[in-house]
Amino acid sequence: MTRHHHLPILEETGYVVLDSYQQPIDPAEWKDLEYVDWKSSGDTRFAPLASAYGQIECNGFWHFDPPKPDKDGVWIDSQTAVAPTLTERVRAIGANVGRVRIIELQPNSYADALYNSHLDDNNRLNPDGEGWVLRCFMQLTHDPDSVMVLREDVNDPSTETRISLPAGAQLVVDSQRMWHSVWHQGSEPRYCLITSVESGPALEKWIWANAPTTTVESAAIDQGVAAAGEATAQERRAARTAYYGYDPTTVMSEA
Ligand SMILES: [Fe+2]
Repeated sequence: MTRHHHLPILEETGYVVLDSYQQPIDPAEWKDLEYVDWKSSGDTRFAPLASAYGQIECNGFWHFDPPKPDKDGVWIDSQTAVAPTLTERVRAIGANVGRVRIIELQPNSYADALYNSHLDDNNRLNPDGEGWVLRCFMQLTHDPDSVMVLREDVNDPSTETRISLPAGAQLVVDSQRMWHSVWHQGSEPRYCLITSVESGPALEKWIWANAPTTTVESAAIDQGVAAAGEATAQERRAARTAYYGYDPTTVMSEA
């Protein structure tokens, strides 16, 4: 535990699922954005709405001069003009936000998701006494068969929670504590709005206004798929660790 301000509602499970967002949004708001290939394995692309200094890029804010924590993101006019509703949704939280971007994820397998599971680097340079930075996930496309896979311990399947991702699904995750990735089933890419957001009164108020649930029942998974996926993923993770000489996912990801 750091000396940052943490929201009590996140303490128990490391995530909170909110009521679904019900308003329709024109898919052009995410499809017509400018995407950047960044840290990409070929399976993901990102389109920033806010970045460190307003450029169309997705780097961690600490890479810039002057470096800064993942807060006080600068809105990118050419992008917010394409996505006014998405921008307003983030602004409506009322909290200090850092990186704000759309992720585009191609379909993958449960094993891929476990292989890609990681912790985020949300609080680098974040001064003690200020709010702990969390991630807010707002699902855009309707992917009810896809799930966010959360684990308290990446090596322990019993700590897993799978959260279904129909359009409008919203959750806030302490993604520096919870291992996370998405298992996206389907034939089209999945789009989600991801925001780095600071813990504090504004975020807390917004969470409580959206019927928070701190424990959800995991989406069903076939036990054979689960066991096979676990074995494959752990094999691939071990091979990666052997290749690098360390497990790169234990070094917090910038994604
Ligand atoms: Fe992440």
